[in-house]
Amino acid sequence: MQLGMIGLGRMGAGMTQRLLGGGHQVVVYDRSPDAIKASAAKGAVASTSLEDLGQKLKAPRIFWLMIPAGAPVDDTIQRLQGSASPGDVIIDGGNSNYRDSVRRAEDLRTKQLEFLDAGVSGGVWGLKVGFCLMVGGSEAVFKQVEPIFKTLAPANGYAYVGPSGAGHYSKMIHNGIEYGMMEAYAEGFEILNASPYRFDLHGLATLWNQGSVIRSWLLELAEAALEKDPGLSQIRGYVEDSGEGRWTVEEAIEHGVPAPVLGLSLFTRFRSRQDDSFAGKVVAALRNEFGGHAVKPE
Ligand SMILES: NC(=O)c1ccc[n+]([C@@H]2O[C@H](COP(=O)([O-])OP(=O)(O)OC[C@H]3O[C@@H](n4cnc5c(N)ncnc54)[C@H](OP(=O)(O)O)[C@@H]3O)[C@@H](O)[C@H]2O)c1
Repeated sequence: MQLGMIGLGRMGAGMTQRLLGGGHQVVVYDRSPDAIKASAAKGAVASTSLEDLGQKLKAPRIFWLMIPAGAPVDDTIQRLQGSASPGDVIIDGGNSNYRDSVRRAEDLRTKQLEFLDAGVSGGVWGLKVGFCLMVGGSEAVFKQVEPIFKTLAPANGYAYVGPSGAGHYSKMIHNGIEYGMMEAYAEGFEILNASPYRFDLHGLATLWNQGSVIRSWLLELAEAALEKDPGLSQIRGYVEDSGEGRWTVEEAIEHGVPAPVLGLSLFTRFRSRQDDSFAGKVVAALRNEFGGHAVKPE
């Protein structure tokens, strides 16, 4: 098939390469000319603007967005409409909020444009291993562009999961689970590290990946990181978040679902960004007030 890839960052560039390897024609666009050149050197067709990208694609066009969620997606969809014609398909593969995807699908439908929300998992390893894809929207449109999903994914690694928003909803929950799993490993390793046993943490991660109940790809990644830097001394314990964890917790609250692990994993990330905390000061002050317990000065 032929498709236009917009956004050639860590994910978009790898996906382009995998699609080219699968025999598809990929017309690429990025704000950075260097990123376009790099993909063109691997066999993609370069374009100079979103308009040029639209002109280089045959109708019905397929546009794949692999850019940050929020305003960049709305702006890009707005601009694409200038070169799109009825029946064209826009696929958002980024980590967009599912509510935005529902809104975009409804809006584009009034303009006779199709929209699929595709949750993508696998990170930069997807180029080699394949990207796991959760796709929401019209099932007929999913079937129309299915050869693209088939190339991007590993065997049995893509699925139609429901109407508009279902793809990004399932990706949101996937990432919420990811927060909890990573936090569980993190806490276990921190206790091991504090213990009197001087455990070889890399050795334990390697061992646990051989048939143990907690073996996993995340633990293999821990193994790799601990091999490179056994004490993780080159990395600060500062953890960002890009939205999906927050939305997962909001969704849990909306439906009255108890999700303590996912919630605490999110809040632990917030705590990781503080050198000191006002909450800690309050507790220290209260203990000092009621019991005369010592406080540490700033
Ligand atoms: N990394 C992952 O493991 C992963 C996994 C699944 C999904 N995702 C999602 O996939 C999307 C891309 O992630 P990534 O890791 O590839 O990010 P990235 O490496 O930072 O690349 C972002 C891409 O988006 C472009 N971009 C940034 N702001 C833009 C704007 N305002 N308008 C148009 N294009 C813009 C960038 O263009 P420039 O070159 O001009 O900066 C770049 O090509 C995000 O939604 C992310 O959440 C990431």
